[in-house]
Amino acid sequence: MKYRFGEPFPTQSTVKDLPLSEGAPAHFSLERKGDKIVLVYRMEEGDAIYGLGEQVRGINKRGWRYEGWNLDDPIHHEGRTSLYGAHNFFLVCGRECFGVFLDCAGRVEYDVGYTSPSLLTVEAQDFDLYLFEGESPTEIVKEFRALIGRSYIPPKWAFGYAQSRWGYKCEDDIRTVYENYMREGLPLDMLFLDIDYMERYKDFTVDPTRFPDLKAFAEEMKEKHIHLVPIIDAAVKVEAGYPVYEEGVEKGYFCKDDRGEPYIVGVWPGNSVLPDVLNPEARKWFGAQYKVLLDMGIEGFWNDMNEPALFYGEKQLKKALKIASETKEIGCLEDFERVSHTFFGLQNNPEDYRAFYHETENGRIVHEAVHNLYGYNMTRAAAEYFREYAPEKRFLLFSRSSCVGMHRYGGIWTGDNCSWWSHLLLNLQQLPGLNMCGFLYTGADLGGFGGNTTEELLLRWLALGVFVPLMRNHSNLGSRPQECYRFEKKEAFRNLLGVRYSLLPYLYSEYVRCAFENDMLFKPLSFAYPSDERAKTVEDQLLVGGSLMIAPVYTQNAKGRYVYLPERMKLIRMRAGDKYTEEVYEKGEYYISVPVEEIVFFLRFNRVLPLAKPAQNTASLDEKDLTWLKFLEKPAEFALLRDDGVTPIKKENFEIIRLGP
Ligand code: NOJ
Repeated sequence: MKYRFGEPFPTQSTVKDLPLSEGAPAHFSLERKGDKIVLVYRMEEGDAIYGLGEQVRGINKRGWRYEGWNLDDPIHHEGRTSLYGAHNFFLVCGRECFGVFLDCAGRVEYDVGYTSPSLLTVEAQDFDLYLFEGESPTEIVKEFRALIGRSYIPPKWAFGYAQSRWGYKCEDDIRTVYENYMREGLPLDMLFLDIDYMERYKDFTVDPTRFPDLKAFAEEMKEKHIHLVPIIDAAVKVEAGYPVYEEGVEKGYFCKDDRGEPYIVGVWPGNSVLPDVLNPEARKWFGAQYKVLLDMGIEGFWNDMNEPALFYGEKQLKKALKIASETKEIGCLEDFERVSHTFFGLQNNPEDYRAFYHETENGRIVHEAVHNLYGYNMTRAAAEYFREYAPEKRFLLFSRSSCVGMHRYGGIWTGDNCSWWSHLLLNLQQLPGLNMCGFLYTGADLGGFGGNTTEELLLRWLALGVFVPLMRNHSNLGSRPQECYRFEKKEAFRNLLGVRYSLLPYLYSEYVRCAFENDMLFKPLSFAYPSDERAKTVEDQLLVGGSLMIAPVYTQNAKGRYVYLPERMKLIRMRAGDKYTEEVYEKGEYYISVPVEEIVFFLRFNRVLPLAKPAQNTASLDEKDLTWLKFLEKPAEFALLRDDGVTPIKKENFEIIRLGP
């Protein structure tokens, strides 16, 4: 059922057109608050609220307030109300079970039992509201996902292990990382290029002294089965003679102020302009810029700073500088605050978002009203061009900012996080909500981006990362280096990364099945065990695909943890992909020891798991020689994907494997 409120901007988040329903939507009462609509739902004591994608707090979102508003906050904690993506789908599960999607380009505010424990309110201005009813949470999610279209599927090598760091500056830095990985026998598929590969942070340029021949270098690395994945930033440097800037200005393809002049903001390259990716012509033009790197043999990209994150707006900066220069001395606290606030307030300032415009198919619109569509359309620009460039090839593409709809074009990483144990747990808790919104290819910066990681934190985080589609270790300039070879327990790292490759036939097959069937790869326990009251309260375990349950360790110095088993399961304790033990546990709660050198997970009853031998990279993974872990009382099937890993996948690529007890 679809309802319309106000005059929503067409987000193109959905792929089907539903007729508009008359009257008020079921479940909610409606209130008006100025120019906003407030939807009010009275929650029962036992209702859980799932969804909202990339957000803080638990799997069950009840008990806090949230906003759908793309925002860069690298040091986020649980007091935050929004992060890098705006994912406006949620499920009410309890006495009644239904799903809600707010198709809205602007800000959406949720109060999920924060002001009043039994009230859920949703507030926004112009939006389409979709209601989904169904037999189970999974069915409802599938209905929603059918509406928004099939999730992006990356090439198979993008399921390998990735090493990244802001601070690899030149070819030799990258070679050194590669060589260290090889020396220690650590598996690796991808190395990431952060902004230093560019010439003074200019998109679609390559610094000629640091990377004198990127094409040859990409080729050299590909021969070693390593893909180089460069970053692309949203903002384009203002610089005379820089073709991307000059051509964009000439064609009017950058966002403009109210006088029609390109709006100047500050990001990495200093004064910059923002490509107007909501203008179809400008989007096409921006997407075509990726050609220069594609022609060098690059097959994967990450799109960054596309909330869009702004360090300053030029006009606000000038104001702040004036205030500072006019302040001759700090006489009192107020003087200090006046000066410091003007500077602190520059970043991602709402005044900037209100001061520039997009030229869209639906006319000129102020950025604030369509803010959440920016990262989506930047990524769409790239994906649409890739399709033109090489229609039969899958490229790796993921973005920092996103909203529903972008899941058809690329994946996401969950932005900057910190080397904190709480962010390891947050990583786990975000996964089901992201999957609900179609973001299957996703992952967090393993080990943590900001701050200093430890060997133990990294090992524990990787032990979650082995199950997550984007398995990337990424860290910030100036933080403690965190490549696996930097630490003492080399064998543990080697084994752990090897487990990822052993699990790859399962993860890749299940990933693609989920994309084809609009299913979730990561589910809360309550989705599969709906009548189990205990399962509903579990916030630190997940089901991964059809066969597995994981219960990662996420606290310092732990030797293990309590795990709840909602049914009989087989505990698999892995030292390496080919070194493991099996033990059956009955339904119940257990303390399970989990040494940092081991990966412990659970095979569900009457399910199977294909295991490959550990491999150095996806190219050398032997998928003919599989071992099957089984916990069967009756025959079971598994749909194993056998494809070339790069061209579009067809249903016929799945081989149905039948196994007996
Ligand atoms: C912000 C991104 O979130 C981070 O991953 C990246 O390293 C820096 N920008 C520098 O490009």
